[in-house]
Amino acid sequence: MLSKASYTLLALLALLALPVVSAERVLGAYIFARHGDRTAKVLGKTRLTDLGYREVYLTGSSYHGMYITNSSASHIQGINAEIVSQSQISASAPVDTVLQNSAVGFLQGLYPPAGSSATQTLRNGSTVEAPLDGYQLIPVSVVSTGTGSEDNSWLQDTSNCQKAIVSSNDYFASALYDSMLNSTAAFYQSLAPLLNRTFTASQMSFKNAYTIFDYLNVASIHNASSSSFPSSDLLTSEVYYQLLALANSHEYNLAYNTSEPVRAIAGSLLAGEVLTALNNTIATNGKSKLTVQFGAYATFLSYFGLAQLPAVSVNFTGIPDYASSMAWELVTNSTDSFPASSDISVRFLFHNGTLTGSAQPTVYPLYGQPTLVLPWSDFVTYTAKIAVTSQAQWCNVCGNTGGVCINSSSSTASTSTSFSASAGSSKSGISRAVAGVIGAMVTLAVILGLETLFLLVGGFRISKRAVLSSQTRDSKDESKDESKDESK
Ligand SMILES: *[C@@H]1O[C@H](CO)[C@@H](O)[C@H](O)[C@H]1NC(C)=O
Ligand SMILES: *[C@@H]1O[C@H](CO)[C@@H](O)[C@H](O)[C@H]1NC(C)=O
Ligand SMILES: *[C@@H]1O[C@H](CO)[C@@H](O)[C@H](O)[C@H]1NC(C)=O
Ligand SMILES: *[C@@H]1O[C@H](CO)[C@@H](O)[C@H](O)[C@H]1NC(C)=O
Ligand SMILES: *[C@@H]1O[C@H](CO)[C@@H](O)[C@H](O)[C@H]1NC(C)=O
Ligand SMILES: *[C@@H]1O[C@H](CO)[C@@H](O)[C@H](O)[C@H]1NC(C)=O
Ligand SMILES: *[C@@H]1O[C@H](CO)[C@@H](O)[C@H](O)[C@H]1NC(C)=O
Ligand SMILES: *[C@@H]1O[C@H](CO)[C@@H](O)[C@H](O)[C@H]1NC(C)=O
Ligand SMILES: *[C@@H]1O[C@H](CO)[C@@H](O)[C@H](O)[C@H]1NC(C)=O
Ligand SMILES: *[C@@H]1O[C@H](CO)[C@@H](O)[C@H](O)[C@H]1NC(C)=O
Ligand SMILES: *[C@@H]1O[C@H](CO)[C@@H](O)[C@H](O)[C@H]1NC(C)=O
Repeated sequence: MLSKASYTLLALLALLALPVVSAERVLGAYIFARHGDRTAKVLGKTRLTDLGYREVYLTGSSYHGMYITNSSASHIQGINAEIVSQSQISASAPVDTVLQNSAVGFLQGLYPPAGSSATQTLRNGSTVEAPLDGYQLIPVSVVSTGTGSEDNSWLQDTSNCQKAIVSSNDYFASALYDSMLNSTAAFYQSLAPLLNRTFTASQMSFKNAYTIFDYLNVASIHNASSSSFPSSDLLTSEVYYQLLALANSHEYNLAYNTSEPVRAIAGSLLAGEVLTALNNTIATNGKSKLTVQFGAYATFLSYFGLAQLPAVSVNFTGIPDYASSMAWELVTNSTDSFPASSDISVRFLFHNGTLTGSAQPTVYPLYGQPTLVLPWSDFVTYTAKIAVTSQAQWCNVCGNTGGVCINSSSSTASTSTSFSASAGSSKSGISRAVAGVIGAMVTLAVILGLETLFLLVGGFRISKRAVLSSQTRDSKDESKDESKDESK
C-alpha cells in the first residue's frame, strides 16, 4: 500500500522524468498540399469554391503559426516573421485553376497582410502602404507535373510518362479490378436516380469509382434544394462511406503498385523535388528556407506508397481530404548556427484535411524506419531509391523517347537506381498506343487544353519552372531574375 506521501513523491518523480524542453530547431521545410473544396470534376471547368478558399487559407494560417511566428517551437530559424522575403520562400503549382488559386489562398494565410508594417518611405519623405491592408505578394511558379490535374479524372493523363500509363492501365486488366467491377455492379446501378443526369447507365460502375464519389460528395456539400439534388435520400451515410472506400481502392491501385514503382511516377518526382529543395537549404546554409507546392491527391497516394506509409496505417491507402498537407522538416539539436549535415535530420508530418487554429500535423516514420527523425544521410539514401531527379532519369524510367527525351534515350542513365531497374515491367502486353486509348476511355471528361496538347507534342520537361503568377505574369525581367535564383 502506498501512502499519500509516496503518491506525491511519485508524482514529483514523474514530473522530473519529463524531457527537458529540447533545444530542437527547424532549419527549413517543404510543404506539399492539396487544394480546397472545389466543383465536381465530371461537370468540367473545375474551380475552387469559397469554402475551398477558406480551407486552404486556414491551413496556410496554421503553418504561419507553426513555421513563421517567432514564438513557435517549430519556427524556421531566421525566417522573416512578418514581412515575407522572396529569397527565403518559393511556391509552385501546376497550370490548373484550382491548384493555382489554392496556392495563392494558402500563401495569404502563411504571410497575412502586414498592415502598416508593409510601408516604404520614399526619397521625398512620403510613405506608401501596400494595397489591401499591406497585402504581401508571393509569386507562384508553374510546375509542369500535373498540368490541368483537377480537370482530368485520371492521374496519368497529366503524367505523360509512357511506362506509368501502361502500368496504371494494367490495373484495369487485373483480376482484382475485375472482381471489384463485378461485385459492385448492382450497387452502382442502384444509384441511378442520383446519377442519371450526368452518367449513362454503362458509366455507372466501379470503373468510374472516383468520378462518381466526387460528383456525389460535391453535391452532398453544395446542392441544397431537392431539385438540385434529386433522390438525395438514397445517399445515406452507409452508401457514402461505401462509395468512398471503393474510390479509395480504385485510386490507390492506379497511383501505386508494389511491383511496378513506375506507376507512382508522380510521387517519385515529388520525392526528387523535396530532396533537391532540402539539399539546397543545407548547401546554402539556410538561405532558402521554405518551399510550398500544391498538387493533386494522386501525388499524395503515389508518395505514400513509395515511402511505405501504408505499413504505418491503412489510412495512407485512402485519398487525403481537401486541404490536406504533408511537410518535411530539417531539424537539429546542434547549437551551431547552421550545423553540418551530419547533425541534421528529417521529420515527416501529415494532416488529413484542413488544419485549423493551433492544430499541428502528425509526425509519421518514413521508409519503414523505426524512428520519427531520420538522419539526413539516411533520408538521402532512402529517397534516392524512389526519387526521379533529372530529365535523363525521367526519360529512362518512363521509356519516353520523343520530345525532350530525344537525346536522353542513348545516354546510359547510369545514375539510375534500383528504382528504374524494376520499373515498368508491363506484363499485360498492352501496347503504348492502345494504353493511351484505354486511358482516354476511362476518362469521362478529357479536357484536352492547349497546355496538355503542348505537353504531348512538345514533350515533358521536369524541373524547369517558369514564373507565372498573377503578380509577375507580365514582367519578363522578374521571371528572368527568378529563374536565375532557381538555378543557384
Ligand atoms: C522576431 O525575432 C526577431 C529576431 O529575434 C526580431 O528582430 C523580430 O522583431 C521578431 N518579430 C516579432 C514579430 O516578434
Ligand atoms: C513623393 O513621390 C511620390 C512618387 O513619385 C509621389 O506620388 C508623391 O506625390 C510625392 N509626395 C510629395 C509630398 O511630393
Ligand atoms: C500490382 O499490379 C499487378 C498488375 O496490375 C497486379 O497483378 C497485382 O495484384 C498488383 N499488386 C498489388 C499489391 O496490388
Ligand atoms: C465478371 O462478370 C463477367 C460477366 O458477367 C464474367 O464474364 C467474368 O468472368 C466475371 N469476372 C469475375 C472475376 O468474376
Ligand atoms: C433519373 O431517374 C429517375 C428515377 O428513376 C427518373 O424519375 C428520372 O426521369 C431519370 N432522369 C433522367 C434524366 O433520366
Ligand atoms: C448538384 O448541382 C449541380 C449544379 O446545379 C448539378 O449540375 C449536379 O448535377 C447536382 N448534383 C447532383 C448529384 O444532383
Ligand atoms: C546536394 O547539394 C550539393 C551541393 O550543391 C551537391 O554536391 C550534392 O550532390 C547534392 N546532393 C543531393 C542528394 O542532391
Ligand atoms: C486513421 O484515421 C482515423 C480516422 O480518421 C484516426 O482516428 C486515426 O488516428 C488514424 N490513424 C493514424 C495512424 O493516423
Ligand atoms: C483521410 O480521411 C479520409 C476520410 O475522411 C479517409 O478515407 C482517408 O483514408 C484518409 N487519408 C489519409 C491519408 O489519412
Ligand atoms: C533532440 O533531442 C530530443 C531529446 O533527446 C530527441 O527526442 C529528438 O529526437 C532530438 N532531435 C533530433 C533532430 O535529433
Ligand atoms: C540532340 O543532339 C544533337 C547532337 O548532339 C543536337 O544537334 C540536337 O540539337 C539535340 N536535340 C535535342 C532535342 O536536344
